[in-house]
Amino acid sequence: MKIAIGSDHGGYELKELIKKHLQEKGFDIKDFGTDSTESTDYPDFAEAVGKAVANKELEKGILICGTGIGISIAANKIPGVRCGLVSDCFSARSTRQHNDANIIALGGRVVGPGLALDIVDTWLGSEFEGGRHQRRIDKITDIENRY
Ligand code: RB5
Repeated sequence: MKIAIGSDHGGYELKELIKKHLQEKGFDIKDFGTDSTESTDYPDFAEAVGKAVANKELEKGILICGTGIGISIAANKIPGVRCGLVSDCFSARSTRQHNDANIIALGGRVVGPGLALDIVDTWLGSEFEGGRHQRRIDKITDIENRY
């Protein structure tokens, strides 16, 4: 599976950890930056990763900023992106099963490294359940189309 990853400076260290972890597991990772802890603007990375996932160039995306909040807000502005901000494994599983989230956002200053890796593994190991959840996803797409 091809996965896009990106972060601002607040998520840089966690991005590097997640990238290494997933590469060791055999995932094909495309890193959209940032490349250091020097101050950057999270919308730039949200747009790069969000565009690649919305275009289906890459299957899924992982975004990290200090809190995960700004980068998830920015990513969700792109039609076709469903980015869930998660800080626990239950939400990580649910955002695949119920929301068909194609991107997750994490807070590099919120979750510790061990929990972050468990969250990522849980999310990637979970599947969308369809059914009534598909109806709700379709309503989200309707909202995108109307505004
Ligand atoms: C950067 O200092 C910080 O504002 C950013 O990483 C993020 O937390 C925004 O939501």
